[in-house]
Amino acid sequence: MKGLVFNLLETVVSRRYGEDTWDALLDAAELGGAYTSLGNYPDAQMGALVTAASTALNLSPNEVLRWFGQEAMSVMVERYPEFFSAQTTTRPFVLSLNSIIHPEVRKLYPGADVPLFDFEDGPDGSLLMGYDSARKLCALAQGFVEGAGKHFGEVVRFEHLECMHKGDVKCRFRITFTATRKA
Ligand code: HEM
Repeated sequence: MKGLVFNLLETVVSRRYGEDTWDALLDAAELGGAYTSLGNYPDAQMGALVTAASTALNLSPNEVLRWFGQEAMSVMVERYPEFFSAQTTTRPFVLSLNSIIHPEVRKLYPGADVPLFDFEDGPDGSLLMGYDSARKLCALAQGFVEGAGKHFGEVVRFEHLECMHKGDVKCRFRITFTATRKA
């Protein structure tokens, strides 16, 4: 996994809990913590940090990933404003993942292993989104979508219809977006 994801985790943990907490997570995970954004690091290191955070914060690993995703979005808005300024609401932003955001990410960070999503309009106006990755980071995806919703001033209802963690072959989400203020 790209170092930039580790840098994002460090930023959100340090912002909310302080740098000492980040150092304590590194110690618990037995990691040095010198991550460069372009570097590639074993996924197991992210797993160890999530496990350490899960113990320290008394949250399940998936709750840690979801929280991380929610908080990381505001950092991404600061670091990659062009991905967000191209849209005014969450739905087209999420729909631009396969066509714009992640392909641009692969140009900026060669070798980035980004997931491919599939999208379908739900009959009730919802967005049906499929996610399939050996990393099984659906909770992170949920947090990212919820964090994006917050940025665009929308309430996000995010349901897991099928989940790889429950034995399904892939994850399927039903997502609805409701405006809370004029974007
Ligand atoms: C709603 C918006 C987004 C969603 C749902 C999303 C989802 C994900 C997920 C689930 C992964 C984990 C990899 C995997 O599952 O195999 C991932 C990886 C990644 N995403 Fe996104 N993403 C979003 C927006 C962004 C944005 C705005 C950036 C801008 C920098 C970004 C950059 C990356 C990078 C660098 C990786 C890591 C690739 C690697 O380590 O090799 N994503 N994304």
